[in-house]
Amino acid sequence: MSGFLEVEGVVGGYGAADEVLKGISLSLAAGRMAAVVGPNGAGKSTLLKAVAGIVVPKSGRVTLEGRPLSGLPPRAVARRGVAFVPQEGNVFPSLTVRENLEMGGYLEVRATVTRRAEALMQRFPVLGEKRRRAARTLSGGQRQILAMAMALMVEPRLLLLDEPSAGLSPVAAEALFDGIASIHRGGTAVLMVEQNALEALAIAEEGIVLVDGQVARIGPAAGLAADPEVRRLFLGG
Ligand SMILES: Nc1ncnc2c1ncn2[C@@H]1O[C@H](COP(=O)(O)OP(=O)(O)OP(=O)(O)O)[C@@H](O)[C@H]1O
Ligand SMILES: [Mg+2]
Repeated sequence: MSGFLEVEGVVGGYGAADEVLKGISLSLAAGRMAAVVGPNGAGKSTLLKAVAGIVVPKSGRVTLEGRPLSGLPPRAVARRGVAFVPQEGNVFPSLTVRENLEMGGYLEVRATVTRRAEALMQRFPVLGEKRRRAARTLSGGQRQILAMAMALMVEPRLLLLDEPSAGLSPVAAEALFDGIASIHRGGTAVLMVEQNALEALAIAEEGIVLVDGQVARIGPAAGLAADPEVRRLFLGG
């Protein structure tokens, strides 16, 4: 039924540590949103990097609509409609908000870049207000909104978000989750890694608990959020 994003038995990692992911399988239907939660070092960021083409699986594969993503370089993955917002270093601090949006649209022609940047500055008014300010002057929450908006410049069909709420105040995190939910309502599939597990599972449809490079639990997000064992082990409650 899915067939949109399929991760099949992916094993991979970095150099000598080439089994950070120990055989990950999951699938995401078109337009759906999944939250990936789990302890530090579980391999959550590595999983997103494997989908984005930054980590090359040593076995297993990633496909989008039945065609392989794994093996493609990151730029080719991006051209297939997959946008990745990494955990850190996701904006250019010395460029203005407007220039950052233009960088996000590097795959597109000029007129498209202008049109989409204007639309995103309307959609996220704080970006419009600060369009001529350097990204380094933004608050943490504003910077995360900018990073997401940069990713949206290519009108992705799949958005990969790595800990978008990290370091934000509860109020800023809530505003950010509202923004993510609204992007998802617009039809974009989202695979989001989050430390704020309950908040993430509350806006996602699917939940994935990753432990030590393996899928410990997978299922409807609401079910995982309510499961006493999951809460005790992974959600601190
Ligand atoms: N570039 C790298 N080179 C070598 N090992 C790495 C690299 N990045 C991550 N690792 C290792 O891979 C494992 C998983 O890291 P990863 O960043 O995927 O975890 P994570 O679940 O995202 O953790 P966190 O919650 O802290 O962000 C860790 O043992 C980490 O030390
Ligand atoms: Mg991480």
